[in-house]
Amino acid sequence: MSQRFSTDVLIIGGGAAGLCAALQLAEHARVTVLTKGGVTSASTHWAQGGIAAVTAAEDTFGDHVEDTLVSGAGLCDEDIVNMTVASAPAVIHRLSSWGVNFDQEGNEFHLTREGGHSQRRILHVADATGRAINETLTARALDHPNIELMDDRLAIDLINLSRLGRYPSRCAGAYVLNRSTGHVEVFQARFVILATGGASKVYLYTSNPDSSTGDGIAMAWRAGCRVANMEFNQFHPTCLYHPHAGSYLISEAVRGEGGVLRLPDGSRFMHKFDKRAELAPRDIVARAIDHEIKRLGADCVYLDISHRSKEFILSHFPNIAQRCADLGIDISKEPIPVVPAAHYTCGGVVVDQHGRTDLPNLYAAGEVSYTGLHGANRLASNSLLECLVFGHNAAEKIISQLDRPFDIPILPHWDESKVTDSDESVVIAHNWDELRRFMWDYVGIVRTNKRLARAQHRIDLLKQEVNEYYTNYRVNDDLIELRNLLHVAELIVRSALKRHESRGLHYNLDFPETGERAQDTIMFPGSIDQLDILKPSA
Ligand code: FAD
Ligand code: SIN
Repeated sequence: MSQRFSTDVLIIGGGAAGLCAALQLAEHARVTVLTKGGVTSASTHWAQGGIAAVTAAEDTFGDHVEDTLVSGAGLCDEDIVNMTVASAPAVIHRLSSWGVNFDQEGNEFHLTREGGHSQRRILHVADATGRAINETLTARALDHPNIELMDDRLAIDLINLSRLGRYPSRCAGAYVLNRSTGHVEVFQARFVILATGGASKVYLYTSNPDSSTGDGIAMAWRAGCRVANMEFNQFHPTCLYHPHAGSYLISEAVRGEGGVLRLPDGSRFMHKFDKRAELAPRDIVARAIDHEIKRLGADCVYLDISHRSKEFILSHFPNIAQRCADLGIDISKEPIPVVPAAHYTCGGVVVDQHGRTDLPNLYAAGEVSYTGLHGANRLASNSLLECLVFGHNAAEKIISQLDRPFDIPILPHWDESKVTDSDESVVIAHNWDELRRFMWDYVGIVRTNKRLARAQHRIDLLKQEVNEYYTNYRVNDDLIELRNLLHVAELIVRSALKRHESRGLHYNLDFPETGERAQDTIMFPGSIDQLDILKPSA
């Protein structure tokens, strides 16, 4: 028998989006927050550069809106952009009141600059802004009597009441793997918020933590929600290239503070690709680096900030300097070897301005969602902002409905009676590697129709294998995540095949021009064969 939990609001994900919603909701309701693995499992914890907000006298909402729209290459929803940008100062105020101490210069915030921004407008806490935000919000959540934070829980699937018969469509909770016990638990809730972050782990090289396996996107899709614009994966231009570095980002703020990109021979090249040079939007810089690496057969390019004083470097980028020093690179004296890596999922679960998805009582906020803010290419440091604005909006909307009566039927247990333990974990590990490698090779920074078709063919084969595995064996985290990654990979590839143009982050050599009409790519539920393997007993 599965263990059962009941709460008013179940929040799946403990990054910026989930925690900000939790803190607000907890004044009115009982809240349960699930994470796969604690604070560091969230991308939020790893965010470096900062959070974009208009706070300087010489900056305007109009400028921030315009920069967001330019970066989004025609696909942003202008109303959402206006609302988000206008909400940013309140977000900063809320974070400061919760205890996040942004860097100051005199009595003003110190503002850094990143690609695509026409002004200095990024508030930051040195080069570890996300850690400051996540630790502060987590500490507050742990202190709150109405919030229960549960780590080592991996949500497997959402419960849509209509799939149980007799009930209209509504989200009533989730089946969740307790990673410590290996058992599946049932979480019943009046409302569910998905705040599971992005899907960059679908690529072999990524700046993201291991948890970014697109679980929320896959779960919402399986539960009947639309998913949009999955072809727009953002590749960060500068991740550290070193055999022992793992995934480590070198913040765009390094370029914002004067860092320049160099080829292995020391020459600069970005001015040949864009007049904004190193401060062009990310898609342009990542593509330029990819082009130069392939042209020269080089392993990496170099990011050089060594012309700034050691004191400046250590005060602005203490963590980056330390991480590089640990690997034997003194960034005040030598350039940093860098390559692009998958960084951000611009597409996601379609939501409105309140974070509402297509499934009643299911909300989504943060990187898991598609709000219309980022369009075809996210402007740097607009992501934390989006998490906090939509986490807040979703919480407000739910609070406004809490006094309505609800009846929740007893949800079925997870049925483990017909499965056995797998003795072939190697198959799962192999499929993970295969998927991430062909996504990198065929569905990366530069695409072609042929490569996309190849990727789709391999996805079809893997789906059969994973389906068989899932039906016959007890679930574990690798299998659950692989299944989600496969769903996400298919959504990316099919969305990419539907787009007969190049725009923003999606660049296809067979369609190099940008079309006249900018249109979202919406994937409707049911348009792809599902890996339909929910296992509640009847
Ligand atoms: P996350 O912070 O990723 O949190 C996801 C949560 O969901 C985690 O707690 C995880 O454990 C949980 N979870 C996932 N799946 C499940 C599941 N199945 N069951 C239970 N729990 C689950 N953006 C900026 O705006 N500025 C920056 O400077 C910046 N720098 C970045 C640097 C790095 C290295 C990275 C990786 C990203 C950066 N970004 C930045 C992007 C930004 O950090 C993320 O988009 C944002 O933090 C996402 O927040 P989130 O709350 O949506 O999800
Ligand atoms: C960075 O610091 O370069 C990351 C900023 C972002 O992803 O918005």
